[in-house]
Amino acid sequence: MHSTLTALLGLALQAGSVFSKPHPPASETFFNRTIYTPPADGRALYARIAELHTGSLLVTSSLSGDGIFEGELQAFPLWESEDGGASWTWISNITDQVNGWGMSAQPALLELRRPLGKFKPGTVLAAGNSWSNNGTRIDLYASTDKARTWEFVSHVAEGGRPNTTNGATPVWEPFLLHYEDELVVYYSDQRDPLHGQKLSHQTSSDLLTWGPVVNDARFDEYLARPGMTTVAYIPPIDKWIVTYELPVGNSSSHGSNYPVNYRLSDSPLTFDSSPSVEILITLANGTLFAPNASPYVVWSPSGGPNGTIIVSDADYSQVYVNTKGGAADAWEAKDSGHPAAYSRALHVFEKKQDLLVVVGGDTFDGNGVGALTLSVESVASLLGEETGPGKPPGFLVQMPTKA
Ligand SMILES: *[C@@H]1O[C@H](CO)[C@@H](O)[C@H](O)[C@H]1NC(C)=O
Ligand SMILES: *[C@@H]1O[C@H](CO)[C@@H](O)[C@H](O)[C@H]1NC(C)=O
Ligand SMILES: *[C@@H]1O[C@H](CO)[C@@H](O)[C@H](O)[C@H]1NC(C)=O
Ligand SMILES: *[C@@H]1O[C@H](CO)[C@@H](O)[C@H](O)[C@H]1NC(C)=O
Ligand SMILES: *[C@@H]1O[C@H](CO)[C@@H](O)[C@H](O)[C@H]1NC(C)=O
Ligand SMILES: *[C@@H]1O[C@H](CO)[C@@H](O)[C@H](O)[C@H]1NC(C)=O
Ligand SMILES: *[C@@H]1O[C@H](CO)[C@@H](O)[C@H](O)[C@H]1NC(C)=O
Repeated sequence: MHSTLTALLGLALQAGSVFSKPHPPASETFFNRTIYTPPADGRALYARIAELHTGSLLVTSSLSGDGIFEGELQAFPLWESEDGGASWTWISNITDQVNGWGMSAQPALLELRRPLGKFKPGTVLAAGNSWSNNGTRIDLYASTDKARTWEFVSHVAEGGRPNTTNGATPVWEPFLLHYEDELVVYYSDQRDPLHGQKLSHQTSSDLLTWGPVVNDARFDEYLARPGMTTVAYIPPIDKWIVTYELPVGNSSSHGSNYPVNYRLSDSPLTFDSSPSVEILITLANGTLFAPNASPYVVWSPSGGPNGTIIVSDADYSQVYVNTKGGAADAWEAKDSGHPAAYSRALHVFEKKQDLLVVVGGDTFDGNGVGALTLSVESVASLLGEETGPGKPPGFLVQMPTKA
């Protein structure tokens, strides 16, 4: 019935601006879809996601478990979805080709959309931390066949063996950004004797040779350990945002030992000169709440003139949103429905920018399942906190973490 009217309504909805509520079809949104369930002794942790120009999605994670690698070195698994995240195929493994250490943890993914050095648009880049008792190496790999096969490109940064004690000298947690004519590799850096840990980046215009170490966040307090950089662009205000966790010795902020901080800057290369702002949320009863650990930031045009900055943390199902261009007093918690996970990743679909992907594996302490799961939901619905298909009622997962 009323097929013409329905079609007209459909057109009107599609033509609506991104600021109206688009109500994507139910088939595009879903909660906690399983990508991979490891065998009983294994777990997938620290998920990362990239969208290709074809619209395909790639997901990777760190993976551990004797039943998976059976004596082989650890590798980063690579899954692909060609239907918006609904179904997934394991298409390759990113293996260590140079160190004999394995791809141990903390992957990062990015597809080049413009040429960079000898690398053509459509090249998929992957970085990660390859480590052994002899050191930590942030290594870069490339695929020219849509993530089917991988080739070592270069060592970006090298540090001491993995050891989170202040005074040790490892490097950790790369994040990739193609900015102007360079690749930026951000990472956590314990090599500077003035800081327990700081955030650094290096850039390259050919992916082979790397410029000097540039600071992104460091604190006079030696015990401060800013870590786990992620970066996003906020078009309406033409600014860049970096988020990071900020443990300082054993101190805590409103119950959080790894409070989430951010900086805004005109360029993604100059965060060091911006003030560090903590994400704090005033609860209904007036108490301040601080998100905890391993943040991830993205931006969506949904939510008003400034769009919405969306941040995930390690400990809670919810995400933290800011529709006021990152104003310090404008953060709110919204229930994503997706389970809490250590270093959960976010993504906004490039062609449907109201659709937010939340993807996560295990919690830091282990949830006994260690599966990699993904949710896709409407940012407009999230802001309105409507209940989506299969979305459980709002809940706040309270669990301790360390990172
Ligand atoms: C999400 O999926 C995982 C893996 O199937 C399952 O263990 C977990 O209980 C699910 N969580 C929710 C909140 O549905
Ligand atoms: C990836 O490596 C694991 C462990 O060796 C193996 O079981 C799996 O088949 C590999 N997958 C692909 C697509 O190569
Ligand atoms: C560590 O370095 C030592 C000395 O060079 C070497 O003998 C050993 O094979 C290395 N181990 C690994 C896992 O790279
Ligand atoms: C970790 O680093 C600390 C500080 O340098 C050092 O005292 C300790 O021996 C290191 N532990 C290992 C296992 O290397
Ligand atoms: C944190 O607390 C533990 C246990 O009380 C103590 O051993 C450690 O030295 C403290 N660390 C710092 C950086 O204060
Ligand atoms: C305020 O509300 C939060 C969340 O419900 C609760 O955890 C906290 O204890 C409350 N604080 C006070 C002072 O009642
Ligand atoms: C958008 O963000 C800018 C910069 O923070 C701010 O000045 C402006 O008031 C914001 N607009 C809205 C509608 O929140």
